[in-house]
Amino acid sequence: MKIHLKIKRFNPEKDSKPWWGEYEVDVEPTDRVLDALHQVKWFQDGTFNLRRSCAHGVCGSDAVRINGQNKLACKVLMQDVVKKDGDTITVEPILGLKVIKDLIVDMEPFFAHYRSVMPFFVNDEPAPADGRERLQSIVDRERYDQGTKCILCAACTTSCPSFWSNDEYVGPASIVQAHRFIFDSRDRAAAERLEVLNQQMGVWRCRTAFNCTNACPREIPITQLIGEVKQALATGEIK
Ligand code: SF4
Ligand code: F3S
Ligand code: FES
Repeated sequence: MKIHLKIKRFNPEKDSKPWWGEYEVDVEPTDRVLDALHQVKWFQDGTFNLRRSCAHGVCGSDAVRINGQNKLACKVLMQDVVKKDGDTITVEPILGLKVIKDLIVDMEPFFAHYRSVMPFFVNDEPAPADGRERLQSIVDRERYDQGTKCILCAACTTSCPSFWSNDEYVGPASIVQAHRFIFDSRDRAAAERLEVLNQQMGVWRCRTAFNCTNACPREIPITQLIGEVKQALATGEIK
């Protein structure tokens, strides 16, 4: 199948504004969009830049906008976005983060929000005397399972209208990460994380738009997790 690929290009050293690069690419229906981007990079225009690492939906580095929706380029099959010869696919950088070049955005503001919620295990109590792990029940482990699936791709945060209107908003990805530790029965820093999320740019800026949940390649029920954090703040109880 020969398809028409439109890629939003921008080199801040040369371009005054972004422009559309247009390419004809031969693909199989079962190729991924990432394969088509590689064809452009490797065989048509070596100046085109994209970010990717694992190519298998694990590392989270290739979130882009495909036909207007945030996706991982390595997970979307051609047959899901084009049907016949001559069909067009558009690929753009994710929104709300500064473009460094072509599809590569500056992820640092995203990771600054991530760090702000203390996304690590905190427990200063002595480890069990028998030298074993801090045990927890299957039910306790299940309570925070969804957040452990997050690969920090930013597809959620950069599809959120609240984040687009104010990039100081901590964003859904950081709330998912906070949730993962707040609801971990072994952790002891829930109160500190909830305090961060109770600030003006915290969880209350979520307007339940659901874009984040729809964009997540790991199918994490993000809006539900955000609701659980709001509930914990409103009631003072972590359940
Ligand atoms: Fe990506 Fe989903 Fe994690 Fe958001 S919650 S960063 S969309 S994996
Ligand atoms: Fe944004 Fe998701 Fe809330 S898209 S407004 S964080 S439900
Ligand atoms: Fe790693 Fe797509 S390249 S998730």
